Amino acid sequence: MPTTVQTFAEAKGKKRPLTMLTCYDYSTAKLMNDAGIDSILVGDSLGNTILGYPNTLPVTMEDMIHHCKAVTRGAPDLLVVCDMPFLSYETSVYDAVTNAGRLIKEGGADAVKLEGGRAVAEQIRAIVAAGIPVQAHIGLTPQSIHALGGFKVQGKNLDAALDLIADAKAVQAAGAFSVVIECVPAPLAKAITDLLDIPTIGIGAGPDCDGQILVYQDMLGMYTDFVPKFVRPFAHIGEAMTRAFQDYARAVRDRSFPNASEQFDMDQALVDQALA
Ligand code: KIV
Ligand code: NA
Repeated sequence: MPTTVQTFAEAKGKKRPLTMLTCYDYSTAKLMNDAGIDSILVGDSLGNTILGYPNTLPVTMEDMIHHCKAVTRGAPDLLVVCDMPFLSYETSVYDAVTNAGRLIKEGGADAVKLEGGRAVAEQIRAIVAAGIPVQAHIGLTPQSIHALGGFKVQGKNLDAALDLIADAKAVQAAGAFSVVIECVPAPLAKAITDLLDIPTIGIGAGPDCDGQILVYQDMLGMYTDFVPKFVRPFAHIGEAMTRAFQDYARAVRDRSFPNASEQFDMDQALVDQALA
């Protein structure tokens, strides 16, 4: 059965958590679709994992649309959420609705995600009013990396915890269908999950959120520039790829690749005739 925002609403407070992964391309989306993952995020983490930038700040609307189109073609059954890139929504409510609309109309996304709490509540309200489901994202918000002063756990002292709770309530009141909570102590993420009526999706936020999300290159063990403490490598695909690349190079160099069954044959007499 296809995943929708109703699937998310129904998962709230249930024993069975929602499963989300990031994805940026067609063939990986197909594998996730077939594996029964509940929902995909076309994350602006593609700035790091696909484009090789040091952070997500340079990512453009065109980058997001380009990858979102590929993912939606591969995962027709899944709710595809597309990240709004840095400065595509902070500038004004008008920009927020216009750019959210482009991710739906041009990218084929089912919903959008944006970072921030009270500061972007107006934008969330307007996008939702336009008929576009919004997933919020609070805690560690990588687009604010310079303001946060680095990648660190959020909400650790009383003031920060109160701020985070206020942000969580604000995005829910603004109409978000769900909220990602990133890099927040597990007990605080649990408290926010209990407090809210919308499902929380955790990343580095403990086991009590209504769902989990990871960057797929992280959980496959194929992105090693920076591996956060909360990542579990469910496979070692990076090592498997390196081994395959080495095996290929060896086979080409010793001419064992391609072999007889990996080529197209032709009558030698015909070749000779062509040369005559
Ligand atoms: O861009 C991304 O991958 C994300 C998830 C880590 C939540 O925003
Ligand atoms: Na993101």
